[in-house]
Amino acid sequence: MKSPWILLTCSEFLTILTVALASSDAACPSPNGGEDLKPQRREVYDGGRIFDISHRLRPDMPTWGSKDGLGQFLWLSESMKNGSYTNNSEMKLPIHTGTHVDAPGHVFDRYFDAGFDADSLDLGLLNGPALLVDVPRDENITAEVMKSLHIPMGVRRVLFRTLNTDRRLMWKKEFDTSYVGFTKDGAQWLVENTDIKLVGVDYLTVAAYTDLLSPHLVFLEGRDIIIVECLKLDDIQVGIYSVHCLPLRLLGAEGSPTRCILIK
Ligand SMILES: *[C@@H]1O[C@H](CO)[C@@H](O)[C@H](O)[C@H]1NC(C)=O
Ligand SMILES: *[C@@H]1O[C@H](CO)[C@@H](O)[C@H](O)[C@H]1NC(C)=O
Ligand SMILES: *[C@@H]1O[C@H](CO)[C@@H](O)[C@H](O)[C@H]1NC(C)=O
Repeated sequence: MKSPWILLTCSEFLTILTVALASSDAACPSPNGGEDLKPQRREVYDGGRIFDISHRLRPDMPTWGSKDGLGQFLWLSESMKNGSYTNNSEMKLPIHTGTHVDAPGHVFDRYFDAGFDADSLDLGLLNGPALLVDVPRDENITAEVMKSLHIPMGVRRVLFRTLNTDRRLMWKKEFDTSYVGFTKDGAQWLVENTDIKLVGVDYLTVAAYTDLLSPHLVFLEGRDIIIVECLKLDDIQVGIYSVHCLPLRLLGAEGSPTRCILIK
């Protein structure tokens, strides 16, 4: 007897596969015989369980101080169109591009020399329960604002969603100095009054533009806090998630691009 599976159409098969795997990543040949070659690009996976909170690296994303965005960062150094067996790309980009982490060597020369680089960051801290909070929209993150958030002791990872997300600053090519960030006293209040060791923010840097260095120094001096910058926190409810960030093991780099996801 013939296996009934052979009689299934592709879409029937996919339905079964979808139920079985709760996933629909495969592509079906379209009715006209050609393949449907449009990849899915997603922000949310698995029926709303997994949120991608990293920004896609793209030429028109903003970078520090630039009016023109990141620009071309990817090249096909070997191309099938040019007779190569495979397509092989190369990329070049500043370490602090898109969603990325800062290591202590970013602002402390002695830590840089001692090797407190991206490779030395604690994966235990970069992965675990995290709180996503909304920051009041009318101020930078000052001590007063930090106090008003009433983040309980014991919370070690906090992602701060600010006006930057509402203003969609990461979707504008031109670097905008009016973004919201931590002030020095906001950073100090966090260090002195909370257990937060992973600080996540939603624009290119953790510090407000008027005093860029101080908040970095306050956060990174103890070498026990990891800063994650440029998170994509659009359309996610505030609350508790499991955060997972995996920076590249870049030996000697004071930071690294990273993929970050939230799992419900
Ligand atoms: C193909 O090769 C030429 C000459 O080396 C180069 O200029 C061109 O950019 C290559 N095209 C691609 C798509 O890699
Ligand atoms: C390889 O790269 C070329 C660009 O030179 C692109 O048009 C083509 O689709 C790529 N092929 C594959 C198999 O990815
Ligand atoms: C935050 O500080 C920047 C200067 O660093 C300023 O331009 C911006 O207006 C401030 N944002 C708010 C909401 O107060």
